Amino acid sequence: MERLPQGHGTTTRVLHWLVAVLILLMIPAGLIMVREGLPRNLQDTLFVFHKNVGSLLIVIVALRLAWRMTHRPPGLPATMPAWQRRAAAASHVALYVLMVAMPLSGYVRVRAGGFPIEALDAIGFPALIPESKALAEAASSFHAIAAFILIGIIAIHVAAALQHALIRRDGVFQRMWPPVARERP
Ligand code: HEM
Repeated sequence: MERLPQGHGTTTRVLHWLVAVLILLMIPAGLIMVREGLPRNLQDTLFVFHKNVGSLLIVIVALRLAWRMTHRPPGLPATMPAWQRRAAAASHVALYVLMVAMPLSGYVRVRAGGFPIEALDAIGFPALIPESKALAEAASSFHAIAAFILIGIIAIHVAAALQHALIRRDGVFQRMWPPVARERP
């Protein structure tokens, strides 16, 4: 019988699913809040949620990145073709780059535009970015384009995960699910 590949530890899994849930909330909130004709209070609520939870994501993603750099993931099963391993590695790098670029560009867009981030302002956290219309506009365009690239890569990532879970059933999905690692027999 083929041995199942070794899974990720609980810290890696918790960080993965926490970031996944938050990003999957940030994307629809971002897409809806920029639409015209939205009721004012709904738009304000979505903006406050998006800016504040997004800023928290900068910290969580930094922790995730630090954890990833100090903890090598276990190897993939030998049954996976080389091109799939390369595709997995490339898409994971792209996801990490976008996980960093998205919240940072959002932060720059808001601060350069002179807007508040309520939770940070309440604790007296400095803006860090000078007000600049040109910078705010550049960050806004970057944020919107990067969001659509991120959505595309997440779609590929989820499709690949489901293919492992439902079609190949090779244990790769169970490397990250459930969010708490089980004792291996
Ligand atoms: C992983 C984190 C994030 C994701 C996935 C994300 C996603 C999105 C998406 C999909 C949009 C709609 C883009 C468009 O069609 O224009 C958007 C817009 C926006 N986001 Fe984010 N965002 C993130 C973090 C942040 C953060 C941290 C902030 C600010 C602190 C922020 C501020 C904004 C603002 C102000 C807009 C409206 C852009 C504009 O109209 O200029 N975002 N975001």
